[in-house]
Amino acid sequence: MHSPPLLLLPPDPSLIPAYRAALLAADPSLDVTGYSRELDDAQLARIEVVLGWRLPPGLAPRLPRLRWVCSIAAGVEKLLVPELPPQVPVSRIVDPDQALGMAQHVALMVLRHARALPLYEQQQQVRSWARHPKAAARHRVAILGFGEVGRAIAEPLRALGFAVEGWRRDSGPLHALLARSDIVVNTLPLTPATQGLLDAGCWAAMPRGGYFINVARGGHVDEAALIAAVQSGQLAGAALDVQQTEPLPPDDPLWAVPGILITPHIAAQSSLETVAAQFVAGLRCLQRGEPLPHPVDRTRGY
Ligand SMILES: NC(=O)c1ccc[n+]([C@@H]2O[C@H](COP(=O)([O-])OP(=O)(O)OC[C@H]3O[C@@H](n4cnc5c(N)ncnc54)[C@H](OP(=O)(O)O)[C@@H]3O)[C@@H](O)[C@H]2O)c1
Repeated sequence: MHSPPLLLLPPDPSLIPAYRAALLAADPSLDVTGYSRELDDAQLARIEVVLGWRLPPGLAPRLPRLRWVCSIAAGVEKLLVPELPPQVPVSRIVDPDQALGMAQHVALMVLRHARALPLYEQQQQVRSWARHPKAAARHRVAILGFGEVGRAIAEPLRALGFAVEGWRRDSGPLHALLARSDIVVNTLPLTPATQGLLDAGCWAAMPRGGYFINVARGGHVDEAALIAAVQSGQLAGAALDVQQTEPLPPDDPLWAVPGILITPHIAAQSSLETVAAQFVAGLRCLQRGEPLPHPVDRTRGY
């Protein structure tokens, strides 16, 4: 069967050769074009499928034959551009290994805070052998977004004895949940409804000394309000794997706030092999006219 011409747009152009190799290993008949700004209208007019992370401004109108957009990642917000015609379906990769990686990262951050690891690391600097038994207290953990990632994070935390509560669209009011949570983990998708959701009012709603872990998107968070909440002691700190501007600029104030830990969007990455296998399975569905796996609801935005 003819393989629909595919345009590949990973987060970084340097990743194109690795993705191309993984895709061709999964199906040698694939017709793969790596994205570059130099592609002309004739080259783009052939494209029927996009596998990528974002649609650069002006690209969608140059793809008249486009009939499927598959996200390389769990998040799809950079693909749902207004220029994308409404009839083009969007789906995403759902990688169980990525969810496991997210769960490991969040468990590490929760335990690091709950067991006061930074305090003992500071004490070691001054050779202080002081014990703080309260550090082992139980913590209530709220997980905002209870989809593939949120549910995978909940499992090991519950096994470790944490009281975990998930929050989704039909759950109760956010501030009421925050008020009964010592640690808040954000795994929401970035949509018009969740953009900027985590603001000064949210930090004020949490019990004093609470902790925030973000593994979703920086766009959910009012970062200036978060810094103020940590500096005032309302929050004990935060672990931010994602920031509004990535890479985080060297002069960003987030770097220097005691209690805030920055990691460079490394909570979990999809394996190329999983992306390739799921993409090829989705392509078969497209070719047979069957429903695509893991479809995105374009009106909800996730
Ligand atoms: N840092 C990283 O390396 C990394 C890796 C993977 C994913 N992520 C991020 O994690 C996000 C979530 O991924 P996922 O696979 O878990 O997505 P998902 O399976 O689609 O789950 C999304 C969850 O968020 C909830 N939600 C959406 N909008 C909401 C709203 N307005 N109010 C309350 N709840 C809402 C959904 O509620 P319902 O259950 O009611 O639909 C669902 O429970 C991705 O979008 C991405 O941004 C980051």
